[in-house]
Amino acid sequence: MMKKVFFTLSVCLAVFIGCTNDKDELLNPAGGDCTGVNASFVNDVLPIIQANCQGCHGVGSTNGPGQLTTYNEISNAGTRIKNAVVSGFMPRNAAPLPAADIRKIRCWVDSGTPNN
Ligand code: HEC
Repeated sequence: MMKKVFFTLSVCLAVFIGCTNDKDELLNPAGGDCTGVNASFVNDVLPIIQANCQGCHGVGSTNGPGQLTTYNEISNAGTRIKNAVVSGFMPRNAAPLPAADIRKIRCWVDSGTPNN
């Protein structure tokens, strides 16, 4: 009897912890720990911007912060970029970025937009 109760409680706990992690990863890229998140400008952030943003924020763009092609432009617009992707406002007319990509951008901005 006790064994059964213990087993049931363990399963509940495992499910609960599993869901908590899922939520953090999938539903709340705006929060959570940045430990272990790869958030280099050149390797992580720039490719995401190139693939998802430069169609509308390329050279000569006047949309919002304008062009997002160089380190200085992207760094200067860092907080606006973070807010726009976390809220799903950007990319415009498209699904929000995958949670992992949003997290990389957030962690890069929160660490002071290093040029790395
Ligand atoms: C389909 C075109 C399009 C795409 C793709 C797009 N943007 Fe935009 N963006 C715009 C337009 C147009 C505006 C001007 C605001 C508006 O009218 O919605 C804007 C505004 C912004 C703003 C200013 C928001 C504010 O008011 O603070 C930011 C920051 C931004 N975009 C970042 C991004 C990032 C980062 C991406 C890629 C993840 C992206 N955009 C992808 C068209 C686009």
